Amino acid sequence: MATVRTIASHVWPLGTTFDEDDVLQLGGCDARELAREFGTPAYIVVEDDLRTRARAFLDAFARHADDHEVHFASKSFPCTAVLRVMAEEGLACDVASGGELALALRAGFDPARVHLHGNAKSEQELRDAVAAGIGDIVIDNLDEFEKLERVIEPGSRQRVLLRIAPGVSPDTHPKISTGGPNTKFGFSIRDAWAAIERAEASDRFALDGLHMHIGSQIFDLEPFRAALEAMAQLGEFRTWNLGGGLGVAYTHEQKAPSIEDYVRTKVELVEEVIGPGRRIADEPGRALVAHSTVTLYTVQSIKRNVATWVGVDGGMSDNLRPMLYGARYEAHVVGKPGGGTVCHLTGKHCESGDVLVHDADLNDPRPGDVIATPVTGAYGYAMSNNYNGVPRPPVVFVKDGDARVVVRRETYDDLFGRDVDPDA
Ligand SMILES: Cc1ncc(COP(=O)(O)O)c(C=O)c1O
Repeated sequence: MATVRTIASHVWPLGTTFDEDDVLQLGGCDARELAREFGTPAYIVVEDDLRTRARAFLDAFARHADDHEVHFASKSFPCTAVLRVMAEEGLACDVASGGELALALRAGFDPARVHLHGNAKSEQELRDAVAAGIGDIVIDNLDEFEKLERVIEPGSRQRVLLRIAPGVSPDTHPKISTGGPNTKFGFSIRDAWAAIERAEASDRFALDGLHMHIGSQIFDLEPFRAALEAMAQLGEFRTWNLGGGLGVAYTHEQKAPSIEDYVRTKVELVEEVIGPGRRIADEPGRALVAHSTVTLYTVQSIKRNVATWVGVDGGMSDNLRPMLYGARYEAHVVGKPGGGTVCHLTGKHCESGDVLVHDADLNDPRPGDVIATPVTGAYGYAMSNNYNGVPRPPVVFVKDGDARVVVRRETYDDLFGRDVDPDA
């Protein structure tokens, strides 16, 4: 009987273990076998991790707020199978484009429990959303009012929220700070008064409340207070949507607030700053999906220069976050836990910036070794691309020792699948 021990670090998906040979087991599946069967790079998603975190959000809100709605921010992992899990677990859905709306509908979300965001929605996206019977449209700017009015049938009203930028910047990377004094998102407090007046004056809108999303990867929850205090002056509304933002630990020394702490803090702040009995909506993305996923790579080359460079078969085409905003990850040689070789884990792309992990500490990496990088569920698949003609990796769900492909690997045919042949 094999003995297994649970990996201590909280960065791995829930239920992750090592077997007796120190080989990583994800959702009961051997990581080396997953790499052999599905190839690398591959996104391995532990389904139980997704479901457990979805339930944790729902349970925490049920404990703390009578009237609430938890939306999955689909941008964080816009994959039908992931969306389907969130729909099955009873979450609502936040989409930020016509494409994300199409994915949400395909995954089975009730359109009445979907809402549409975006700072540059097209009239067609608004038309499609209204035609689908979307729950809320979150109006972002003055130009959107007329566009939206044009696509709403006379005599009917579309429920809307107004996105407000409360002028508060949490402690996070500037590129994912979205509610400060000079942001492209939403109405400033100064402009919010006119926006509220405009929405209330229209016979096509039913203004239900206000929305804010101050940023992402937030560890310190205190800025939510200042943000709500800024919003509170804008008046009485039924719904207060507080956006997402809960940060996650990408490395073992980081410790993020728990889902329970985040939800309790937000609910208490609404009760204290806005008042009791409000409908509270939230839109977590990262904290729902980040930990569910581990990306597997294979080492292709090792170069000893001033530093040691370990090259793998993926990179900025499957995880753009390190290059976009210096996001930090850990890496692990499957079957060889621990460290000893400090090296840069690089991708295969033609950019010097294509480094997945600077100063990774790996245990004697060799060509052919499988490398695992945890916490890649959020905004990895979402921002994947075909730079250098690299086909995008598959998404593989693992659960109770079984693995199933939910998105197949792209092929070279996919790379020219949209070409229009001039002779055809
Ligand atoms: C409007 C809005 N809501 C929710 C989210 C999800 O944020 P997070 O993944 O940090 O929870 C985002 C992320 O950018 C967003 O822009």
